[in-house]
Amino acid sequence: MSRSSKELYVKKIKNGTVIDHISAGHALDVLKILGIDGREGHTVSVAMNVLSEKQSKKDIVKVESRELAPGEVDKIALIAPGATINIIRDYEVAEKTRVKLPDVIKGIIRCANPSCVSNAGEPVEPRFTVERTDPLKMRCYYCARIMEKQDVLKQFYA
Ligand code: CTP
Ligand code: ZN
Repeated sequence: MSRSSKELYVKKIKNGTVIDHISAGHALDVLKILGIDGREGHTVSVAMNVLSEKQSKKDIVKVESRELAPGEVDKIALIAPGATINIIRDYEVAEKTRVKLPDVIKGIIRCANPSCVSNAGEPVEPRFTVERTDPLKMRCYYCARIMEKQDVLKQFYA
């Protein structure tokens, strides 16, 4: 029997969002993407490096009384491609979706190349082609710069 079927690490929530199957070590990055630092008043539970059913490690974030915006879900997909978003209503999982990185990423992150046309102050929306999701590798449509997870994380903390 797996660890998680014997006991819960953090108790079930009544209403809100559970982001589950986050790549181990990225729970705090997910909170950063959501703009949650604890001062907004939401009840938030975080579990890090817990054993999943598949005996691999994962992180979990539970945010009470808060649902996610589509742009937030896309950002989570960049750093946690296996994450699931569970909408909880009255203690039940009302919706479960696995995050999905589109083949082309538009607008949510900037190119790391300062000379790229998308950074030139022109009305050019950043655009990347996803070449690999895990580990992340994407290519700028304009300058061919390769961006990886660390480049993306840097922007979330900038
Ligand atoms: N959860 C919660 N509060 C609830 C219901 C569920 O915190 N009221 C959490 C569970 O602890 C789990 C996630 O939401 O982390 C998804 O719940 P569920 O679908 O019941 O679990 P699994 O079947 O194990 O999900 P999966 O197949 O996606 O691993
Ligand atoms: Zn570029």
